[in-house]
Amino acid sequence: MSIPIIPSMDAAVHPSKLYPEYKSTILRAPAQPMIVFPPGISEVQGPVFGDFQLGALDHDLTKNSIKNGEPLGERIVVHGKVLNENGQPVPHTLVEIWQANAAGRYVHKVDKHAAPLDPNFLGAGRTRTDKDGYYCFYTIKPGAYPWGNHFNAWRPNHIHFSLFGPNITTRLVTQMYFPGDPLLNYDPIFQGIPEKGRPLVIASFDIDRTEPDFALAYRFDIVLRGYATTPFENQ
Ligand SMILES: [Fe+2]
Repeated sequence: MSIPIIPSMDAAVHPSKLYPEYKSTILRAPAQPMIVFPPGISEVQGPVFGDFQLGALDHDLTKNSIKNGEPLGERIVVHGKVLNENGQPVPHTLVEIWQANAAGRYVHKVDKHAAPLDPNFLGAGRTRTDKDGYYCFYTIKPGAYPWGNHFNAWRPNHIHFSLFGPNITTRLVTQMYFPGDPLLNYDPIFQGIPEKGRPLVIASFDIDRTEPDFALAYRFDIVLRGYATTPFENQ
């Protein structure tokens, strides 16, 4: 079999490993030049996550952890296509998301933000793309939250995404943002993405996919590799 050539990540699109305004990168950015490690057969033919049965409500964060009522906040549909470097759909791939609740609080032991947890909202879900590379989640619009990067630092509303694609070399971890969010101008994680790449991580408001009397909708297409790749999270 032939091993695909993995194009190096476009520095005009992806965030630099070191972006001092995003303080964590100062410690975790590599101090030495990166070594090119061509993928072998195990990387391109090895098992990937997602080859298992999903629960019927795994994609619906408004229902997948209900205890005593509906989760609070603005219901939204988040949907789109996962595409490869040639613009072709990536079918049957695992898409996982996690996010804060409407008040900007995660269900996580290190999240100490003084905002309420929602007993009916876990903030985690997963789905698989269909044969056309399409995915769809129902969720609650996440709230902004403060973080310790600098004085009065607030993360814009965002949803974390992890995708595996057809093999481990196409794994993508990124964040989806919302159009028109004023906090984008002040967020060093978003600002750490070169200007050309920033539009690729902002969803579009999608009036055609809204559900009248029920939910607004946002479209977020994701490109796993090659030209126009969705920017990876700085890590
Ligand atoms: Fe987050």
